[in-house]
Amino acid sequence: MNVNDSEVVVSILTREGYVHTERIAEADVILVNTCAIRDGAEQRIRGRLNEFKPYKKKKPSLLVGILGCMAERLKERLLEEERTVDLVAGPDAYRDLPKLIRTASEGQKAVNVQLSREETYAEIAPVRLDKNGVTAFVSIMRGCNNMCSYCVVPYTRGAERSRNPETILREIRGLFANGYREVTLLGQNVNSYRWEAEGTALDFPGLLEQVARFDPALRVRFSTSHPKDLSDEVLRVMAAHPNLCRAIHLPAQSGSTRMLELMNRKYSREWYLDRIAAIRRILPDCAVSTDLIAGFCTETEDDHRQTLSLMEEVEYDSAFMFKYSERPGTKAARHFADDVPDDVKTRRLSEIIALQNVLSLRNNEKTVGKTVEVLIEGVSKKSEAELFGRTSQNKVVVFPRQDFKIGEYAEVTVTGCSAATLLGADPKRIVKG
Ligand code: 5AD
Ligand code: SF4
Repeated sequence: MNVNDSEVVVSILTREGYVHTERIAEADVILVNTCAIRDGAEQRIRGRLNEFKPYKKKKPSLLVGILGCMAERLKERLLEEERTVDLVAGPDAYRDLPKLIRTASEGQKAVNVQLSREETYAEIAPVRLDKNGVTAFVSIMRGCNNMCSYCVVPYTRGAERSRNPETILREIRGLFANGYREVTLLGQNVNSYRWEAEGTALDFPGLLEQVARFDPALRVRFSTSHPKDLSDEVLRVMAAHPNLCRAIHLPAQSGSTRMLELMNRKYSREWYLDRIAAIRRILPDCAVSTDLIAGFCTETEDDHRQTLSLMEEVEYDSAFMFKYSERPGTKAARHFADDVPDDVKTRRLSEIIALQNVLSLRNNEKTVGKTVEVLIEGVSKKSEAELFGRTSQNKVVVFPRQDFKIGEYAEVTVTGCSAATLLGADPKRIVKG
């Protein structure tokens, strides 16, 4: 989501005559798009700011701006705490950046952290920074109304709002015309997408259907789904369209119903497992990934074991795994003690990671000997003679380059794997449409 927001920022500034560069020494303005989800993310940004100091010394007119969730969370305080910072802009204030840059260059305080109920940057075509020219993010909604007790996002990104579907489809049409073959529809909670206009309404299954129909050669992914909102209808739309990728990211956070209640996730372990059963029933070839938090407030060894057993039961294909990090202002910070000692959090997290490695490997081994469809994304980092791409299940496959090109589809036989990658052989070209 931050990558996509940075692409929106580049688009806004390009219209004003700015030119994007990745070479710090060349820059007149450095903008850092930040995350506030865990304390570690913020500490990394503070470290990064120190790296800019020598450049400011060399070029005193150089401006440094903090964008995104950390800007939203700390507001003016950032200007006081970090002498390197000249400008602060929250996630809904990017249209104001040209003015903020002018203000800062006159030596004035430049802060805009106003959140909006409407802003979706709907008509702004993001300038793609990912550069592979094959896969792109398309934002469909912003903000979050869920109020999970540990999470700072509702405070930094504001309330949920959906983007006009016409602008979404226009953006996708433009991407496809430029050779892109995969889009990932993005939102904090995509399943609550809803657009209402002139007495009609479009919900997430409806939008997904329209995007799927755009072209059989366009793959579509989406992220993130909240388990309480993942309906059978979404799964049925996926089943009806092979270009809707067989991969669902369904953050569980914990396997213990008691923890889930404290987290204000609004589902139980049983409800979550029922959603997994629905995925297995309607989309038998679908990969499932998740997010897990170790050591949330009051978590016992038994709660932790329930997370491990949930992982075993679901057999996740992959997972993002985190230690709980208390965020100021959240319900958990205000009402619950962060009482799991850090060494216990660390040990539980490492048990979760070790188990996930076993599950990832086990899942990948199941594909050995089968043929998979790959959308080619680039040349392998390890060897010029190999390409890599992803399967519909979002697994990375490395295979012989031959005369294949980036952006083409190939059918590849899986001959081996690690926990992270599939090895492929004997690629055959697939032409779609
Ligand atoms: N501490 C640790 N992990 C968190 N996440 C969100 N807030 C916190 C926090 N305070 C994780 C959740 C979420 C993912 C994006 O980040 O697992 O799904
Ligand atoms: Fe945070 Fe929960 Fe919203 Fe995800 S659904 S962004 S974890 S509040």
